[in-house]
Amino acid sequence: MTTDIHSAFFPGKTNLAPILMLHGTGGDESDLLPIATFLFPEHPKLGIRGRINENGSNRYFIRHKDGTFDLANLAQETTWLLHAIEIETARYQLDASQLIVLGFSNGANIAAYAWLNQPTSFKTAVLLHPMMITPPKQAVNLEHHRAFATYGDLDPIVAEDNFDQLTQQLTDAHADIKIFKHHQSHHLSQAELMAAQSWIKTL
Ligand code: MLT
Repeated sequence: MTTDIHSAFFPGKTNLAPILMLHGTGGDESDLLPIATFLFPEHPKLGIRGRINENGSNRYFIRHKDGTFDLANLAQETTWLLHAIEIETARYQLDASQLIVLGFSNGANIAAYAWLNQPTSFKTAVLLHPMMITPPKQAVNLEHHRAFATYGDLDPIVAEDNFDQLTQQLTDAHADIKIFKHHQSHHLSQAELMAAQSWIKTL
């Protein structure tokens, strides 16, 4: 279980919260570094690559050809990722409870799923274009958890209803969610990154 971790670590000021970068489909452990550096210039940064290969593209869990998701695999890969986070934070002497997740798309999806379905160490997240993969099976308590979550009204992947359900579920679980909706697609925009930057200043 521990042998197939691909990670990258970029040191920063040790008194600042470490950033955990979780990439979108086709990304890797370091491709969010420019965004992480823009949002969190001096923080230490750790990236962990998803270990699913979809026709050459890295992902955190299996997506079938028809666009549906393998939920058993999602649960299993979430457990794997949380374990990988434990191993890598220990390796680089990072405080896992202080981690701020920076997740884009597939990486944001597994982070939100993890919060709603499994015990996690991290309590703060920037979720860029997340969606709800499956409704949580039972109520969870996400008090003291906070996230900045973005949605684009031109997104061909994430439906607005789905995004709203996800943020509602996080809110129902007592997480503090700041929503940013913008006229854009399933990509990052300067407007959302500026809004994320303002939210980060409130942490
Ligand atoms: C997913 O598979 O998590 C979503 O379809 C988003 C993506 O990675 O394209």
